[in-house]
Formats: sequence, structure tokens, C-alpha cells
Amino acid sequence: MLKVKNLQKNFGNLRALDNVSLEVEGNSVVGLIGPNGSGKSTLFNVVSGFYEKDRGEIYFKGERIDGLTPDAIAKKGLCRTFQIAKAPEKLTVLENMLLAAEKQVGENPFAALFARRRINPVEKKNVERAIELLEILQLIDLKNEYAGDLSGGQKKLLSLGRIFMRNPDMILLDEPTAGVNPTLTMQLIKVIRELQKKEHKSVLIIEHSMKVISSICDKVFVLNFGQVIAEGTPDEIQQNDKVLDAYLGCA
Ligand SMILES: Nc1ncnc2c1ncn2[C@@H]1O[C@H](COP(=O)(O)OP(=O)(O)OP(=O)(O)O)[C@@H](O)[C@H]1O
Ligand SMILES: [Mg+2]
Repeated sequence: MLKVKNLQKNFGNLRALDNVSLEVEGNSVVGLIGPNGSGKSTLFNVVSGFYEKDRGEIYFKGERIDGLTPDAIAKKGLCRTFQIAKAPEKLTVLENMLLAAEKQVGENPFAALFARRRINPVEKKNVERAIELLEILQLIDLKNEYAGDLSGGQKKLLSLGRIFMRNPDMILLDEPTAGVNPTLTMQLIKVIRELQKKEHKSVLIIEHSMKVISSICDKVFVLNFGQVIAEGTPDEIQQNDKVLDAYLGCA
């Protein structure tokens, strides 16, 4: 699904990504862990087209995507969330979901205005899809609330919903549970797993909690100073000396 080959990204003298290679198979959940500043978000930014790479290759569904714009990459079915969840605050939860879907349809606003007959079935489908997702996310009772009135954790659930409205093949999640209380964290994880299994998505997830990683990931890559220092199952990773040394600092 995703293949990253010898990726390098520098910020001035700092090598944020140093020859990073990794693969994510279809229909799997892969974790990306590492200490603060090890390059995890930078990898997401380069893969999703927000930053330009200095060297290396990125393939999505077998097709080269490095050099494409973030929008072009999202349209190919590779979507991401940001470390800080953002959603238009003056729109309701349901409106937020529908707005996310509209981007996917790719209609320009004028076409939408003048082609009512063509748009309506799409809108109806989008509303049905939004309701289905909001039920899974347990946000259905809040569908008419303003997004700005949601708690931090609920905003993260909403941003997950918005991503799924775009019907991607793969999603990149940057610390989806950061700042979320433990109960909602477990709900988020359950929802990610449920949606992934039901709809056969691939997920690459940055996460600091080993508990979350263990409960959700098939495989984990560990970054340290911009380099992949280990890969394996969550169990293997937790017993890897290099990882303990770098990540947990207790070898
Ligand atoms: N836009 C930027 N300009 C300059 N330096 C940057 C930029 N983005 C990231 N960096 C630097 O690159 C390194 C990797 O940062 P990155 O945000 O990828 O780390 P991270 O693994 O996501 O960390 P965290 O766990 O704290 O989110 C850090 O040293 C950071 O200061
Ligand atoms: Mg980060």
C-alpha cells in the first residue's frame, strides 16, 4: 500500500529523516514510535506532500507520489490527520462531516449549485454515510452541536470521522490519542480498529502510548534521530535493546 525508500529530509543542518525505508501492507495497522523530535511528524509531512523531500522515493499503491501536492495525494486515497485536531468550529458536527465529503467529490461550488439533480443523490449518500460514522464514533447525539463546543477528545473523534468521509485507502494518524482522557482513548482505538477491519483500510499511526500500540498495531517501526532503528511486532519491539535504550532510556 505504502512504500518509502531511502527518504531524506533536512532542515538546514538538521537531518530530520535519515535514509528512512518502510512499508505498510494493505489492510494493516502499523505503528510509528520514537522519542520526541525523532522525525515521526516530519515523515508524515513528507509522505502526505506537505514538505518536500531531499532524497528518496515514496510509492502509494505502486505509484510514485513524491513531488505531488497534498491535495493530489489525498485524492489518490492517502489522507492524514494533524497532531492538533482542527475542525470548523462554527459548523455543526454533521456539517463538518459533510464538508469533508464534499472535498472528496471534488465538485466546484458552482457545479454544485447548477447541477442539483446530479448532486442530490450524492448528498443523500453522504448524509447516510455521515450518520453511520457518527454512530460508530458515538457522536450521533451531538450531530447538531457546534464543533467548537466539543471536548478535545470528541474533536479527535470528529477529525477521524472527517477522514473516513473522504473514503481513503490509507490514513496517517498523528498522535490521535494525545490529550484525550483514558476512557475516550480506548474508544478511539476501538473505533479505529473497527473501521479499519470493516472497511479494510491501511493505517499508519504515530503514538506515544505503548499500551495503545500493543492493542492496535500489527507491526511497529521505531525512529530515533531520523533513522529506523527497529521494526517488528509490538512484543518484539518492547524487547529490543536498541529500542529500550533509545526510546525508553532504560536499557
Ligand atoms: N518545519 C520545521 N523546520 C525546522 N525544523 C523542524 C521542522 N519540523 C520539524 N523540525 C525538526 O525536525 C526534528 C523532527 O521533528 P518532528 O516534529 O518530526 O518530531 P516528532 O518525532 O514528530 O516529535 P514529537 O514526538 O515531539 O511530535 C526535530 O528536531 C524538529 O525540531
Ligand atoms: Mg510529532
